[in-house]
Amino acid sequence: MSTSKKRHLITSALPYANGPVHIGHLAGVYVPADIYVRYLRSKGEDVKFICGSDEHGVPITIKARQLGVSPQDVVDKYHAIIKDAFARFGISFDIYSRTSSKIHHKTAADFFRKLYDDGKFIEKETEQYYDEEAKQFLADRYIVGTCPKCGAENAYGDQCEKCGSTLSPTELINPRSAISGSKPVMKATKHWYLPLDQYEGWLRKWILEEHTEWKVNVYGQCKSWLDGGLLPRAVSRDLDWGVPVPVEGAEGKVLYVWFDAPIGYISNTIELLPNEWETWWKDENTRMIHFIGKDNIVFHCIVFPAMLKAHGGYILPENVPANEFLNLEGDKISTSRNWAVWLHEYLDEFPGQEDVLRYVLCANAPETKDNDFTWKDFQTRNNSELVAVFGNFVNRAVVLTQKYFEGKVPPRGTTDGYDNSVLAEIPLIKQRIEENLDTFHFREALKEAMNLARLGNKYLADTEPWKLAKIDMNKVATILNISLQICANLGIALEPFLPFSAAKLNRMLNVEARLWADFGRTDLLTNNYLLGEPELLFAKVEDAAIESQLKKLRDTKEANSANQRPAVAPQKAPVTFDDFGKMDIRTVTVLEAERVPKTDKLLKLKVDTGVDVRTIVSGIAEFYKPEDMIGKQVCVLINLEPRKIKGIESQGMILMAKDASGKMCLVQPSEVMVNGTTIS
Ligand code: MF3
Ligand code: ZN
Repeated sequence: MSTSKKRHLITSALPYANGPVHIGHLAGVYVPADIYVRYLRSKGEDVKFICGSDEHGVPITIKARQLGVSPQDVVDKYHAIIKDAFARFGISFDIYSRTSSKIHHKTAADFFRKLYDDGKFIEKETEQYYDEEAKQFLADRYIVGTCPKCGAENAYGDQCEKCGSTLSPTELINPRSAISGSKPVMKATKHWYLPLDQYEGWLRKWILEEHTEWKVNVYGQCKSWLDGGLLPRAVSRDLDWGVPVPVEGAEGKVLYVWFDAPIGYISNTIELLPNEWETWWKDENTRMIHFIGKDNIVFHCIVFPAMLKAHGGYILPENVPANEFLNLEGDKISTSRNWAVWLHEYLDEFPGQEDVLRYVLCANAPETKDNDFTWKDFQTRNNSELVAVFGNFVNRAVVLTQKYFEGKVPPRGTTDGYDNSVLAEIPLIKQRIEENLDTFHFREALKEAMNLARLGNKYLADTEPWKLAKIDMNKVATILNISLQICANLGIALEPFLPFSAAKLNRMLNVEARLWADFGRTDLLTNNYLLGEPELLFAKVEDAAIESQLKKLRDTKEANSANQRPAVAPQKAPVTFDDFGKMDIRTVTVLEAERVPKTDKLLKLKVDTGVDVRTIVSGIAEFYKPEDMIGKQVCVLINLEPRKIKGIESQGMILMAKDASGKMCLVQPSEVMVNGTTIS
């Protein structure tokens, strides 16, 4: 280990409790964190693994509003789902708590208050959109309007989902409040800012000079933030969901979710260790590591350390091994578009196959670049690696021992050159696994661990003990002894990665779980030791299981495209007021209506324009039956040049709303008016 520190505080990002956990979260954060923690525990290190739900922030309030429930209802629901799924998946937190807890509210409020009392914040008044009907300030997400870039309606104050542009609420054309629909007004509001600019020099030195060993993607992102120059960041918001700002006159204000969430690591440690938490957060002999995804880098490498530094007395993270993103079947994983493999669903649909997912996500972890999860790859890795190599090897070693030696470990006789080279390889593999785990290279580490299974599998295939059974039983004994020693080592080597299978393997060998220190020994099983019953470590994943997952994804795609709003035409070239004034638009009533023969779309209408009674041909037959039209008052452009349509002279045009999909409806006055009333 690259450190002599006494204890390890390992955190993994607190997932937002506005949806369940998916494979992207797992591959990026929780699987590597859990592997690391299990490895440390196996080494006998003093370690705590801290996590919990992140239960504040605007997205949760939006979700609650959409569902017509309270934010607390939303987080209660997802906190339970997430916590349960993590537990079933074997993510071995020492605590999984939540930021809506009392203890967190107090810890976060005290933290803020200390910074406030020490004068670490600056107070600033700014103008922000305010909804006078709902009587509240509007978070960027709560303001909708027309996108200034692409013209899409319903762009959000922070982003247009249509064209992907990042926006600020003041750029929106015709902004409306998403809460009341009213037009928001600008109103002054006061907030507290952490002056990150004052910490820039210190951060540059701490990260860019003292932590050159951080992962390239992490170091690079920090450097570009620092080179771009840091600005004061608001740490409060006008919102009614969160930790109230503990200052007089701050009614209606809460701590910004990114201020309170990382403090959740501290609160959860306090909840776990009420008497000794300070040793874990304040003693120089504690080594703190944050496992996160790449979108969290700035908060964990810059903002939270600056908060800890401003507070004083706290240790800083020693490393932040952030991962990139995992895609699913070539597309970005998205909670709102339901484009994901949800952990709780996987656990229900693949019972007893937790380790397969752990294996695939680690083998494919997006450690240095974004990566893709495909179900085909999932199947291949299971069938040709877990089943064909690891499972096959262990099964053969145990079954052959049952067959030839009544399930008792046979003694190792004289070994030849091949035997010796296989035995010598075990400690070398151990060393390579350690080097990789110590530097957060989990994919490589897993590959090395699997190489131990490969070594055994090849050894059995090469020596073919089943063929020697009648010729040289001493040799068979030696081969099986060595194979079983490899199995026992696999139980240690793979435990951090595949804890369920390691436990099964230990059961098959009839041994208790052993610790890392024993890894590398070739005498783990003594002569005549009685093994347990052979079990299958892994089952083949059949095509049907993969096909049903792919079908589920295809259905999601279909549902998404059906839900999508049709494109809206961009604005046309400007017209003058005079141009508009040339159009004579009136309210008219339909007197008679009939289909135009041999057409699908056309109706021939007789209408009373107030000026006269005339004939109009209109392409609305797909949407309105003739009998539906009679008596309706509609709007007509009456001075449009008459045109012949299917041999009938049409004297005017009925105004219709028409979307990109071709759907149409009539435009009608909201009250019946005298025929011939002008529309302007
Ligand atoms: N909830 C955030 C996310 O899912 C992570 C918060 S990590 C913490 O991206 F530091 F704030 F706790
Ligand atoms: Zn746009």
